[in-house]
Amino acid sequence: MTDLIPELRTPSAPEGTGRVKSGMHVSRVDGIAKVTGAARYAAEHEAPALAYGVVVSGTVAKGRIKNIDAGAAEAVPGVIAVITHENRTVKMRGNDLAYKDMTAPAGSPFRPLYSDRIFYSGQPVALVVAETFEAARYAAALVKLSYEVEEHDTDMLASLDRAYEPRKMKAGFVPPSSKGDADTAYEAAPVKIESQFYHGAEHHNPMEMFASTVVLGEDGHLTVYDKNQSSQNCRWYVSHVFGLSKDKLTVRNPYVGGAFGSGLRPQYQLPLAVMAALQLKRSVRVVLTRQQMFSFGHRPETWQQVKLAANPDGQLQAIVHNAVHETSRLEDYVEVVVNWSGQMYACDNIKLGYKLVGQDRYSPIDMRAPGAAHGVHALEVAMDEMAHALKMDPLAFRLKNYAEVNPLDGKPYSTKELRQCYQKGAERFGWQDRPLEPRSMRDGEELVGWGMATGMWDALVMVARVSAVLHADGRLVVSSAASDIGTGTYTVMSMIAAEAMGLSLEKVSFQLGDSTLPMAPIEGGSSHVATVGSGVAGACEKLQKALLKMAQAMPDSIFKKLQLRQVEFNDGRIHLRGEPAKGVGLAEVLAHAGKDRVEEKFLMTPQMLKQRKYTRAVHSAVFCEVRVNEKLGIVRVTRVVNAVAAGRIISAKTAESQIIGGVVWGISQALHEETYTDHRLGRFMNHNFSEYHVAVNADIHDIQVIFADEDDRVVSKQLGAKGVGEIGLVGVSAAVANAIFHATGKRLRSTPMSPDKLL
Ligand code: MOS
Repeated sequence: MTDLIPELRTPSAPEGTGRVKSGMHVSRVDGIAKVTGAARYAAEHEAPALAYGVVVSGTVAKGRIKNIDAGAAEAVPGVIAVITHENRTVKMRGNDLAYKDMTAPAGSPFRPLYSDRIFYSGQPVALVVAETFEAARYAAALVKLSYEVEEHDTDMLASLDRAYEPRKMKAGFVPPSSKGDADTAYEAAPVKIESQFYHGAEHHNPMEMFASTVVLGEDGHLTVYDKNQSSQNCRWYVSHVFGLSKDKLTVRNPYVGGAFGSGLRPQYQLPLAVMAALQLKRSVRVVLTRQQMFSFGHRPETWQQVKLAANPDGQLQAIVHNAVHETSRLEDYVEVVVNWSGQMYACDNIKLGYKLVGQDRYSPIDMRAPGAAHGVHALEVAMDEMAHALKMDPLAFRLKNYAEVNPLDGKPYSTKELRQCYQKGAERFGWQDRPLEPRSMRDGEELVGWGMATGMWDALVMVARVSAVLHADGRLVVSSAASDIGTGTYTVMSMIAAEAMGLSLEKVSFQLGDSTLPMAPIEGGSSHVATVGSGVAGACEKLQKALLKMAQAMPDSIFKKLQLRQVEFNDGRIHLRGEPAKGVGLAEVLAHAGKDRVEEKFLMTPQMLKQRKYTRAVHSAVFCEVRVNEKLGIVRVTRVVNAVAAGRIISAKTAESQIIGGVVWGISQALHEETYTDHRLGRFMNHNFSEYHVAVNADIHDIQVIFADEDDRVVSKQLGAKGVGEIGLVGVSAAVANAIFHATGKRLRSTPMSPDKLL
């Protein structure tokens, strides 16, 4: 399983791209495929006699389905079946475990079309399958349901008194801990603030709709093109739900049009499409609508309280941070929210609390920088409030409390170039010219304000397998069942392999997005470069060792007894280090060994013992300028500088794009995004782009990204890299809020900071 899978159309760089190095700005190797339409997304794969499924969504938040009248739908010409929990013939397993994908939180996962139970509004209640998409869509509108309605509760703020501690933390998350006596220190301190924060629910809204195309092979094999962040996670889930063996099922996600966490778990169109294909013995495609994409996981609605105490000189004396967010009745979705508050500033007294409220909604799901997006917002706005109370510059206040070691457990950081971020960011932004007092700067109709915030995110590493194959014709094919959700995986992995093997980028293909490839983790938590990338480097090193050994076996070899560090690989040759003329072509090496290809496999595992001694994180400093029209309440974010310390940066262009994207989203979160619930209906109401507002081009102005010099060999021995996916978002909305305060003197503690809140 190491040669190119043709259906994947694995992209490589255009001819003439040449040699690359870590830190270079290289255009995406999949860029041309994407802009020419050659890249196929989940709903774009063809199959003979393809049938089309359209989901019917429920309209009540809690209860039971009393009756389903599908008569009118079934009478529509072209309709093949209306599948419901009553008439499905495909057996679905009955135990919770079968429905637990690799990222499932504690609890009992939702099972689509399993029974008459209704757990949330928008729940899938039927699948209409027809010969054409149009017939299926029309017929879906004709399916009539009646319900036995039970009383629902979707109002988190009214239910804070029944918040409970989560039953179990998700893997990788730790429960909040405390240190010292924060309550006593808070009471005794001379300067203190206390603030409450509220964030509404937010939805991911990637460009690509969730979709699954199930292609039924003649041998009964199912190949599923699905939108997700891990083909292997989805293959595992479908196998367990339907009792299908691994060799009967392949899941592919070679191209993903954004996901941001929404694809970490299998979404319900996947089991529904597979169910229809099995029941009807046909290939089936199911695509969700934009509205239906508001009927699964979201960033949870969150309430927070932050209390800070300090001495008049600005030394923090106490940090208290409590958070409560919603989850479903089915599962304890956790994102901890408060944990970063114990790791960001030196303080002897820290108290963190975290609780959940069960609601009649679907389980929330990770959404870019889950937990930190809201938690760090609250802490960083509170830090700004404290700086103001102390009459200190907000940056000087943060530097005064700079954490040299993790305040909670005293562990050193594996690397932490946050000071560099503060310095470089402040310099680029011109922070030293900032007047201390709010309402000091005006430009025509607009008040101008400058705010800043610190960002922090975890530096995660997981386990992955990578295979590297060098062909006699000079091509290098590297494979792992990784994903590229638009973040640049194809590009960065190709760069790592090309640099390691001394090849032009166009000679390298990185194959991902297929459940049959070597095991890779879910693309989430900004961990792919440190995990799969380190694996690519490891596999290439093994390949070099194998090639050196083969070269040493040649007659009169000049490489005899040499170590790997004494040779170099360049443009398809192996030669003595620094002496390009003294060497041999790799084609010749392979020919002598009688091989047309040589393959090496590498198992990448985190350096657990070493890692345990350190706190591993990425850091950032965000500086932001806003212009506020007080008469209209309109905020424009005219300038952002985001300085990020995330280990060695391998693919500078796609890394910078990730940070820019994070800043755009942070602005969007600060000013626009919230999904509103009508509690009478228990239903998200603004489920399309005309009402769920996201930042558009007109909202985005100057964004500058700086990467600090950092090299983290604890997180990644091979590359020194950490990850840049999520950190770009963290702290941005807080910097905007703090800039709004500096402009107007008005402190906003909920997002979005919409015009009504500023008037
Ligand atoms: Mo991201 S929320 O780790 O996909």
